Formats: sequence, structure tokens, C-alpha cells
Amino acid sequence: MSSDLRPKVDVLIGEADLSARVAQLGAEITRDYAGKPLVVIGVLKGSFVFLADLVRAIDLPMAVDFIGISSYQGTRTSGVVQITSDLTRPIEGKDVLLVEDIVDTGLTMKYLLANLATRRPASVKIAALLEKPSRAQVKIPIDYRGFVIGDEFVVGYGLDWDGKLRNLPFVGVPRT
Ligand code: IMP
Repeated sequence: MSSDLRPKVDVLIGEADLSARVAQLGAEITRDYAGKPLVVIGVLKGSFVFLADLVRAIDLPMAVDFIGISSYQGTRTSGVVQITSDLTRPIEGKDVLLVEDIVDTGLTMKYLLANLATRRPASVKIAALLEKPSRAQVKIPIDYRGFVIGDEFVVGYGLDWDGKLRNLPFVGVPRT
């Protein structure tokens, strides 16, 4: 697609701010998990850019796995959460860091936390790049939070709008 066919997107969080915050989160995680074997689980698809940057900011041995979740149709939640692809390894007894792009209503994370708990990990913490507290329907304990944003639909840095715009290097708000 040529760039002039793309919807205009206003920058909300620019590349420099993203990389500075991800470096801070990586340093915190490195401190907190020192001496513990860590399993980082990326929630697909939206977390893949954040996860790629975050794991490189964590100076610890780790395993990386992914879980595919589908909860959105178009631009707003359908409320239906489905596992579209599962973990490749058991997490029993492991310290898990769940990496998510955004916690919006919290329903996806609530479902995932309950699902992962049945697999008996030693611990589960959450790293979320973005949180929209104004839309929360359930309270999710986010241990590593990148940025708190308002009630606006955002795209880029892994987040999509109807499957598109994930590859923008910044987080932005599409002009509608
Ligand atoms: P929740 O279940 O409402 O917390 O939604 C979580 C998922 O919805 C996230 O992992 C995203 O994939 C998607 N989502 C929520 N808000 C946005 C947004 O503003 N832009 C793009 N995707 C979003």
C-alpha cells in the first residue's frame, strides 16, 4: 500500500519515548527476576513489537513462547475471547511474565490469567505497554506498565486497526 493510501495517524507516543520506557521496564524486570529462570509469554498478535524490544532490554536467561488470542472484531471488543494458538511448552512451576500490548476492558487478561492458572505456574506477572483505565470492566494487576492512556483507539507498535497499521513505529490515533 502506498503511504498516501494509509489513514492519517496522529502520534500519541513517539519512538524515543517508547524506547526509553521499554528500557526502564527491561531494567526493572532484570532486577526483579535476577536468579529466576523466566518464561516470557507474548500475547499475539498485538504484543509482538513490544515483546521484541522488551526481551532485548532484559539481561537474563529466558524462554520465550506465545499464546494467540482473538477478542476483537473490527475496532471494538466483541467480548468473546478465543485461544487461536496455544503455548508450545508446559509452564508448570515456571515464573511467567505475560506480555500484552494493551489492557482495555481487562476481559482478555482476566480470561488468560484464569486459563494460565490451571497450568500451575510458580508465578505470573503482567507487562502491558498500555493501559486504558477509563474502560476497565475488571481490575487487572499490571506489574510493569508502559503508559496510561485515555479512552482513544490507538494503533501502531504492534496494535492494529482491523488488521492493519501494526507496523507503525509509534503509537498513534487514527484520524476518523
Ligand atoms: P480487553 O480485553 O478489552 O482488555 O482488550 C484487549 C485487547 O484488545 C488488546 O490485546 C488489543 O489487541 C485490543 N485492543 C484494545 N484496545 C485497543 C486499541 O485502542 N487499539 C488496538 N487494539 C486494542
